[in-house]
Formats: sequence, structure tokens, C-alpha cells
Amino acid sequence: MFLRRHNTSLLVRTPAKLNLFLEVLGKRTDGYHDLESLMVKVNIFDHLTLTPADSLSLTADLSSLPVDSRIPLEEFASHDNLILRAARLLQQHTGISRGAAIHIRKHIPLQSGLAGGSTDAAATLVALNQLWELGVSHAELQHLSAQLGSDIPFFFCPAPGAVCSGRGEIVRPLPPGPELAFVIARPESGLSTPLVFKHLSLQEASVSIEPVCDAWQARRRSCLASRLFNRLQAPAESLNPDVVHLKHLFQRLPFLSHQMSGSGTSYFGICRNLHHARRLASQIRTRGMKTVFVAACPA
Ligand code: C5P
Repeated sequence: MFLRRHNTSLLVRTPAKLNLFLEVLGKRTDGYHDLESLMVKVNIFDHLTLTPADSLSLTADLSSLPVDSRIPLEEFASHDNLILRAARLLQQHTGISRGAAIHIRKHIPLQSGLAGGSTDAAATLVALNQLWELGVSHAELQHLSAQLGSDIPFFFCPAPGAVCSGRGEIVRPLPPGPELAFVIARPESGLSTPLVFKHLSLQEASVSIEPVCDAWQARRRSCLASRLFNRLQAPAESLNPDVVHLKHLFQRLPFLSHQMSGSGTSYFGICRNLHHARRLASQIRTRGMKTVFVAACPA
């Protein structure tokens, strides 16, 4: 996440994430699932501008989003948007009644397993803490953010990659891993996270996260690529044929390896380098996919 001041406003660029590994360990009594995931930040950014104001407001520019992942502006900027929920939570937590005019230029597609809403919420908490001069510690903001969503605490972690456990909110930063180049494609349809978890059949034996973490720490790209895993891919494929279509598309191209991110529907492939990624991205575009990104980690 990158913050800078411009006159009285704060400008924030906040990244998307990919899940290189995601295992679901079991269902909890609170309705969530315990999981283990290796999450990495990638350089697709939403841009937020926060300006002091008397009350809270949110405006959005969705014109950079792929047409098929756009929703009506009123629906996006509704009371329930995670940005506004994060701002209200910080007001309540600190007893502050100051406002802010928040504007977002969205680049991270919605409902795509790239945590666009979560990264926006994390950015809002960090920026408002600074704008309102609240002095809340980073650790406290991170803890607070878990109330809003399981993926949000990850974005407070300064490292490019982390192991996330519990329902996702327990974040263990990892030392730097290999430099990674990705092609990320999002089909025209999205998927709802609760629906994907609902269609998951839990397995007796779980896949260990250790081998992929070892490959990350040893900075061995090919070894890491061979250890990608996502338990949510099977239920997502059963719910959405677009995910299956993407899998077949990626299978036919020379990626080091590929899988779906999070609860979908975005699909990514690991490439040898950015040049390789650009070449494979253009091949995917010529096969009819409209929303295709070339991305890198570290972001
Ligand atoms: O935490 P978040 O709001 O992102 O979760 C959205 C939904 O995804 C939850 O309501 C739950 O149905 C499902 N979920 C889950 N286990 C997790 C994370 C999310 O079952 N660890």
C-alpha cells in the first residue's frame, strides 16, 4: 500500500492479492472455515483519494473496470460498501465524528478472488487514521479490520507474502520470496464467496502448506509453481463453467503452473518472467478473454 499527501488529501494505491495455496481445514461453529493460505500482493492497484469533510461520503469511478465486471455506481457506493463500513468502524472505535470525502478509482475487478473490497477497506483504515490524526497503532488497525472481513488483515502486512490462517485473519509475514510474473484472467461472471464455501466438500486429509512455504523461502520459482493448490477450485468449477473454461485455456499454454485465486473467479498462471507473461497474456486475449492482466510480485 502506498500513501502520499496532496494538499489536504491523502492518495493511496492499494494492491490486489493472489492465493498461491489455499487449504480449508474444517468448518467452525461460527459459520466460517479454518483455513491456511499463502497470499501474495500483486501490482494491480485501486486508487483512493481521501479529503477531510464534515461527513462521510463515497464516490467511485468504475470506468477502468472491465465492462462485464461493472455494477451500477449507486450499488457500488451504497451504505454497505466495505470502504464506508471501515470508516464508520474507525469512527466508532475512536469515538471520533469527523468526516471524509472518499473517492475510489477501481481497477481490481469485483467478485474475482483478488480481494479488491478487502484491500480498499484496509487502505481506508490506514488513510483515515492518518487524515484524522488518530494515532491508532498499525497492529490495532489490523486487529480491528478482521471485524470487517477475513482477508483484510493481510493487507496490513508489509511483506509481499504471508501465511494466513484461522479464518484468514491470523497473518504470519514471510521473508521475501522469488520474483513472480503472472497472467491473471477474469471471466465475464463472478462468484460469491459464501456460495463457494457452501459447495465445498471437506476432506479427511488436508494438504500441507509447508512445501509451498519452503519453496517460497528458498526462492525457487519452479518448485513453488509445482506446489500451487486451491481447495476452493473444485466447488467453484462445479458452480461456474467459466472457471473450467479458463482452466482448459491455461492448460493449453506453457505456464509453469496455474490455478484459480481465492473463491474465484479469477484464474492465474505463473510465467518464467514478465516478457513470457506478456506473450502468454496476448495469446489468451486472442482466444477471446477480455479481462487479462500481466502482474508481478513483489507489487
Ligand atoms: O470474512 P468475509 O466477509 O470475507 O467472508 C465472507 C463469507 O465467506 C463468510 O460469510 C463465509 O460464508 C465465507 N468464509 C468462510 N470461511 C472463511 C472465510 C470466509 O466460510 N475463512
